[in-house]
Amino acid sequence: MILLDGKKTAQTLKEEIKQAVTSITDKGKRPPHLAAVLVGNDGASLTYVGSKVRACDYVGFESTLIQLEASTTEAELLKHIEDLNKNPELDGYIVQLPLPKHIDEEKILLAIDPAKDVDGFHPANFGRMALEMEAFIPATPFGIIELLERYQIETSGKHCVVVGRSHIVGRPISILMSQKGLAGNATVTVAHSRTKNLNTLTKEADIIVMALGIPEYLTAPMVKEGAVIIDVGITRVPDSTHPKGYVIKGDVAYEEVASKASAITPVPGGVGPMTIAMLLKNTLLAYHRNH
Ligand code: GUN
Repeated sequence: MILLDGKKTAQTLKEEIKQAVTSITDKGKRPPHLAAVLVGNDGASLTYVGSKVRACDYVGFESTLIQLEASTTEAELLKHIEDLNKNPELDGYIVQLPLPKHIDEEKILLAIDPAKDVDGFHPANFGRMALEMEAFIPATPFGIIELLERYQIETSGKHCVVVGRSHIVGRPISILMSQKGLAGNATVTVAHSRTKNLNTLTKEADIIVMALGIPEYLTAPMVKEGAVIIDVGITRVPDSTHPKGYVIKGDVAYEEVASKASAITPVPGGVGPMTIAMLLKNTLLAYHRNH
């Protein structure tokens, strides 16, 4: 069984990005600059944004964190976005999701300049990705593709079942894996909450991408011997025996599924670290496109 080590692969990627930054700053130019906008105090979002800022520091990027009160109005947030769009010293930025309920997420995403949309959530980028044009690809599916490529996992002609159809993971990874190119050319089935006989589908799959958000949903009887398992789940499950009061669980019952899989991503240490590394990669791409 091959452990698809996202932590190690992300570290390699970060070293590559760090070197690229050094060669930029050695020429006397400013380093790439990423900003993150966080509205409110959601615990998981604070953790993610904190990790993104630390990763920027590590590779030598400049970073800006714009932390706003949960009561921030849509108009106030749109003003911040306008300023970020206009700032020539900024290569890319993200607006951490989810946003408070009184803010229209779609309106915010549409206001982001696609040239600075390093999350790849703007319809211009999503459409370009779907048409195989140059685009910013959302960091989580981009990270999965990178992991499959670096571990030379054969995807061509394989049956891949993606469980989940979110705009951030399920939908884009299903598009990318069916496209021509590396980690592509798969025959992709997208399963979701209305899918009938999910077990029959997963049992036939050569590759399973779990992006459902239900802890330990995929069990050994649902998996074919030798399948490749990608676990995108990161759910905080309350656990009073743990100092933080919770443990992080993936969508896969890891131990029992790992014993049947030919390759599998752990949680934590699988897809999660890759997401952050690919956000950095997108920011470096944005920098080069703007210079
Ligand atoms: N919330 C959960 N994942 C993401 C992500 O990749 N980007 C942003 N902006 N928000 C998220």
